[in-house]
Amino acid sequence: MTMRHDGAKRTKHRRLLQWVDEMAQLCTPERIYWCDGSQEEYDRLCDEMVQSGTFIRLDPEKRPNSFLARSHPSDVARVEDRTFICSQRAEDAGPTNNWMPPAEMRARLNDLFTGCMRGRTMYVIPFSMGPLGSPIAHIGVEITDSPYVVVNQRIMTRMGQAVLDVLDDDGEFVPCMHSVGAPLETGEVDVPWPCAQSIEDKYISHFPETREIWSYGSGYGGNALLGKKCFALRIASVMARDEGWLAEHMLILGVESPEGHKRYVAAAFPSACGKTNFAMLIPPPAFAGWKVTTVGDDIAWIKPNPADGKFYGINPEYGFFGVAPGTNEKSNPNAVATLHANVIFTNTALTDDGDVWWEGLTDEPPEHLIDWQGRDWTPGCGRPAAHPNSRFTAPAGQCPSIDPDWENPKGVPIDAFLFGGRVSKNFPLVYQAYNWEHGVYIAATMGSEATAAAIGQASMRRDPMAMLPFCGYNMAQYWRHWLRIGRLQVTAPPPIFRVNWFRKDNHGRFIWPGFGENMRVLKWVIERCEGRAPAVESPIGWLPGWEGLLWEGIEFKRADFFEIMNIDKEKARQETNEQEELFTRFGDHLPREMELQREMQLARLYHSPEVWDLSRT
Ligand code: GTP
Ligand code: SPV
Ligand code: MN
Repeated sequence: MTMRHDGAKRTKHRRLLQWVDEMAQLCTPERIYWCDGSQEEYDRLCDEMVQSGTFIRLDPEKRPNSFLARSHPSDVARVEDRTFICSQRAEDAGPTNNWMPPAEMRARLNDLFTGCMRGRTMYVIPFSMGPLGSPIAHIGVEITDSPYVVVNQRIMTRMGQAVLDVLDDDGEFVPCMHSVGAPLETGEVDVPWPCAQSIEDKYISHFPETREIWSYGSGYGGNALLGKKCFALRIASVMARDEGWLAEHMLILGVESPEGHKRYVAAAFPSACGKTNFAMLIPPPAFAGWKVTTVGDDIAWIKPNPADGKFYGINPEYGFFGVAPGTNEKSNPNAVATLHANVIFTNTALTDDGDVWWEGLTDEPPEHLIDWQGRDWTPGCGRPAAHPNSRFTAPAGQCPSIDPDWENPKGVPIDAFLFGGRVSKNFPLVYQAYNWEHGVYIAATMGSEATAAAIGQASMRRDPMAMLPFCGYNMAQYWRHWLRIGRLQVTAPPPIFRVNWFRKDNHGRFIWPGFGENMRVLKWVIERCEGRAPAVESPIGWLPGWEGLLWEGIEFKRADFFEIMNIDKEKARQETNEQEELFTRFGDHLPREMELQREMQLARLYHSPEVWDLSRT
């Protein structure tokens, strides 16, 4: 028996209507609701969540139209262990993804989803990744039993009736099925944050061949807002491979020089490694006339343009789902300004006057807080007040540094690629690859120290191109795709750089001041793109000498610069040797260029002079 709903009034898309009916039969929700994306709908759902205890309304004077949600303590980040790529063949998922045969996963999902929305509303959320109707944009429809997901999706994507109108009666869409995995029995009272009881019951699964997403058991972030990592990265990376473009875990920023030249840089850093901060960078006073603007802070879709032979990038998202801790007036004033209103905070602390707080927001913590688990908190109690992966969901359009072209359906031309991990030892602040192949190699071998979604793993992990948890197919084939696209689809591929803001001294302190001061590195990058900045050749790539960076307005010693640029050759050889372990995991899938680049680097590390004397510069 089919359930009554007003789908037929909203769309004539038969496949979509049929899919919704099938999913309703599978999940047996109490009712079906088609989201129109209106402010009225958003306000109503937020009010309902305040009633049900999922949301706390923040003080309307201090933080208008904003809410705090506290998740279940077991549901606080993406779950990489429970993320699956279900391609027909295991080798198409590759050694870096969890794989399960599609038939086996479908059987399991079928069991889990059967009746899983009992007692709940099934929401249908049509959304567009990218500006509505843009030729670069793609449409998804998420079915979820979580109103928290609906309101977050309204901030993170272009969502609602307008998307159904663009979809028309036969458009392509990616079906995104989501349930928190907590059916309500008759008379059972709901909890503020329903989710699956056990981690083994969580499945974030992707079917790349049929371009489907099925996510069960978690309500948090990338596990549940399926437009983001599941669609815009894992499924889109497969679409990009097939169609000749790139779907990347990258921010995009614009840099305007005092002379008025505008350049765009796309930068891939792993999760919680500073993309949001870098995307919203404010140049220090010494950079009078320089301006940095924000196109996106997490995901970039980049397509070669045959008309001029350049890469053009868009931000497929509509909002920021950013890490709260560490965000403050000094580290990221643009983010603080973005958060003035219309924000959903998840797992931050609550102040006594109805506002939010997190570690690093102020130098002095308030005398009393309610922590992210709803408990009393006082300074020195030994627990963090906000969860380290607590986040804000905020409209991108509210960001003071938002780029005038951030919604340009054509995208913005990309002039450079940056890759950067979190490496505390023996890794330079910045260097430039010799050429595209070498750049792909240094991006592919990137390492970073562990973050929230990967807890429990070794402290240092390889995170090729910051895509380890996000590539929807064999990572070595993805490198091959990068090599090809740079050679064949653009006239001159953009230069590739590696950066590292995170080098520490022997006392464990960051040597580089970072944040706004990263402008010094960015300026060198821009000038290298224009062939204007000096560089020193080294076994690993082009390095800036002391004279390469602008030092006005900062107390940074030459000796400290040499320290953050220094590489112990013996350790670099060891590192280069260890990369073999990564490469051999891919067997015949590994592009030959990768191993060749590695061997050439090793050779350079043996034969070049013992000391790279940057002090000569
Ligand atoms: P996801 O949203 O998880 O993909 O991550 P992201 O890369 O956007 O992370 P975000 O910008 O929120 O990074 C947060 C962490 O990076 C915080 O701990 C910041 O303090 C730290 N961070 C950002 N920029 C810098 C920097 O220049 N130097 C140092 N030392 N830390 C930084
Ligand atoms: C990340 O983990 O890289 C994020 C947060 O951007 S989430 O959307 O939860 O994946
Ligand atoms: Mn991310």
